[in-house]
Amino acid sequence: MKYNRILLKLSGESLMGDKAFGIDNDRLSTYANQIKEIHGFGIEVAIVIGGGNIFRGVQAEEGGMDRTHGDYMGMLATMINSMALQAALESVGVQSRLQSAIEMKEIAEPYVRRRAVRHLEKGRVVIFGAGTGNPYFTTDSAASLRAIEIDADVILKGTRVDGIYTADPEKDPSATKYDMISFDDVYAKGLNVMDMTAFTLCKENNLPIIVFDMDTVGNLKKVLSGEQVGTIVRN
Ligand code: GTP
Repeated sequence: MKYNRILLKLSGESLMGDKAFGIDNDRLSTYANQIKEIHGFGIEVAIVIGGGNIFRGVQAEEGGMDRTHGDYMGMLATMINSMALQAALESVGVQSRLQSAIEMKEIAEPYVRRRAVRHLEKGRVVIFGAGTGNPYFTTDSAASLRAIEIDADVILKGTRVDGIYTADPEKDPSATKYDMISFDDVYAKGLNVMDMTAFTLCKENNLPIIVFDMDTVGNLKKVLSGEQVGTIVRN
């Protein structure tokens, strides 16, 4: 396998499957099975999952709520998804530990970097919940930060699109997909990969990002086997 330790970023919105809200059990279980498969190859797997299927910070602002308040609600939404994913992993026999950036010790361990690394070394999947624990950061930023902290080899951003395109493929049919692109070119071309905070963290710490379609079963394994799936961004 190409990588030993990965940080997998999952989209909360993808967890909805075809539903309009919440968690689709089939989608959850396909995620758990795909993770089980790569975990079985001996890869150390850490996960950050978003919360957009339950609550989004921007929603709060639109409703006149304080941004920070809404962001904390979003962090709680990621905990719900993280707990669901933990249960799904457990049901397919994968040991996992959930760590939260906001203390809620009755339901999750607090985030302790050294402990997370030990869990990974012992073959447990580690899920990082509650984002960075701070407002004004996205779960992409949390994923980048945690990936750097645990010294992951790569961050895998699972989305509904199969990579980065020259233009929005839904609007421009002539758009083509990049197999590889540099961080500098993403900046220069104004392409949208992650928010700038997350993106800059990856660039400055030389952490490659692979954007791929997580909703096509088998893709996660292909990415880790080095097959040309998705787009890799690197220095
Ligand atoms: P080792 O130290 O390697 O044995 O790891 P471990 O995670 O098995 O150790 P521990 O005995 O600390 O944890 C046992 C279980 O309790 C695991 O499922 C942990 O996730 C959970 N756990 C540990 N600390 C906390 C905590 O502060 N809050 C909650 N809710 N669960 C915790």
